Amino acid sequence: MTSESANPSSTPAATRSMDDIVALCRRRGFIWQSSEIYGGINGFWDYGPLGTELKRNLKEAWWHDIVRCPGRGPDGELLSMVGLDSTIIHHPKVWDASGHLAGFADLICMCKHCKKMTRADQWLAMTQLSDWFQSLMDVVQTRGFAPATLMEWASRKGKALAPNLALVRNPSVTLSWLRDAIAGSDRPIEMQLSEAVRYLATEQLAATGLLYPCPHCGGELTEPKPFNLMFQTYVGAVQDDENVAYLRPETAQGIFCNFWNVVDTSRVKVPFGIAQQGKAFRNEVTPRNFTFRSREFEQMEIEFFIRPDQANEWYRFWRDSRYAWWKSIGLAGDNLQLRQHEKEELAHYAKEGAGVCDIEYRFPFTAPGFGELEGVAHRADFDLKAHANACGKGDKMRYFDQERNERYFPHVIEPSAGADRGTLALLCEAYTPDGARPSGVFMKFHPRLAPIKAAIFPLVNKDGMPEIAEKLYMQLREKWAVQIDVKQTIGKRYARMDEAGTPYCFTIDSDTLQNQTVTVRHRDTLQQERLHLDRVAAFLAEKIGG
Ligand code: GAP
Repeated sequence: MTSESANPSSTPAATRSMDDIVALCRRRGFIWQSSEIYGGINGFWDYGPLGTELKRNLKEAWWHDIVRCPGRGPDGELLSMVGLDSTIIHHPKVWDASGHLAGFADLICMCKHCKKMTRADQWLAMTQLSDWFQSLMDVVQTRGFAPATLMEWASRKGKALAPNLALVRNPSVTLSWLRDAIAGSDRPIEMQLSEAVRYLATEQLAATGLLYPCPHCGGELTEPKPFNLMFQTYVGAVQDDENVAYLRPETAQGIFCNFWNVVDTSRVKVPFGIAQQGKAFRNEVTPRNFTFRSREFEQMEIEFFIRPDQANEWYRFWRDSRYAWWKSIGLAGDNLQLRQHEKEELAHYAKEGAGVCDIEYRFPFTAPGFGELEGVAHRADFDLKAHANACGKGDKMRYFDQERNERYFPHVIEPSAGADRGTLALLCEAYTPDGARPSGVFMKFHPRLAPIKAAIFPLVNKDGMPEIAEKLYMQLREKWAVQIDVKQTIGKRYARMDEAGTPYCFTIDSDTLQNQTVTVRHRDTLQQERLHLDRVAAFLAEKIGG
């Protein structure tokens, strides 16, 4: 589950503007709003050519390091990992057994006036960030709670910013409540303010118990009610209760349901892991912060099956190795942290487990706090047991451990990451303002993740340079994502590649015609050196791999 925790320290991440990053993503074709020509659809995002390569590189790096070439476990043995690709729509009983039908819900309130939904746990933060609250608090803090001041605010700014706030709709009644509420109060100003805003919300406070104003328009919110986040659909032509199905809200359940198939067909033995990448869907009440909280997103999940008595060591192993992995692909430094969950935060499947932690990144919109990139959870035997019981076979479905000659439901350590959140973190981390460059910014991706590994520029479109450039391009593209660019001035071509985050540019110029060398320009240092044409592929292999 997502958390945006606070951390008091601050680093340059706090100075990067999310607006600038979003603008670059749009301008250069990393990420666009889905259905943009129709005004977009909230919570859905499309990846353009550069974004597609970037996200693909992230997923491929994960697949390579987790499934194809996993390392060694805590005991020094090679990890045993296999992949899976299950469907997005499962049998509806899966979601009953997993607890999602009953419990995968947020508490939400609806505004009786503007009908917008607000998550109960986000009400305070959203209200404090709202224009109307900030404007009202400015006035109160500079001029106090004087009725005339509040009346004036209500009739002007309040009318524009929060037309449905009780103070705006019915100032005199609301003000009499307010007077009683804070009369003679010797509490600190912050408490007075928070009490005041509740009273300002509605003139019917005592009668209705309604305490919370809508962060969008100030109107009255309904009591919080659970709202299930799963998207519902129907399978087949008849749209009735019998045929209801759900788009999966996590890829994990496809893995649990196939555990027995994998054991029967793949010669795996506990401890082993099943990994899956794929789309997940959640009808988030307030999708926000660019792709951070979307309604359609991709997950990269591992369910690692272990002996129940080995949960602690495997939990620590996965926590530390997943943290190290994010570091290895460029999220090193102060912007990455591990955060152990408090007991109250634990999800239903993890209550008694060895632990749950989040690997968090300091996004510009969470700074100085952090937002979750990946969760690592000990799910115990919750899911395997739940499915075994729900399908009616119960203990008969316990795993048989040949070495120990005993049957049990394996426990599970689950490192569950978001591919879109990972991509967003890579974009934020790469964004490097640099006034010395014509583009004013460059994207400092780790070469392994860079969407374009190298660009090839003929200096001019004549004298045989385009032909040499094309030959080099045809050679390099067999192994790497490279581009050839023949148009515009060389400065503009460099600027484009700086914004794409291309680590190396090779320029074919008049010297190439004389001595077969090209200029290599390094993205990060702007240093240039000359390299023989025959050495270019070896140079890239050395720098990037492949
Ligand atoms: N199987 C466990 C599970 O799904 P989760 O913490 O709800 O756990 C795992 O999700 C990861 O999926 C998160 O760490 C995050 O990276 C990503 N994720 C979850 N909800 C998301 C959303 N609405 N938009 C984008 N990514 C999301």
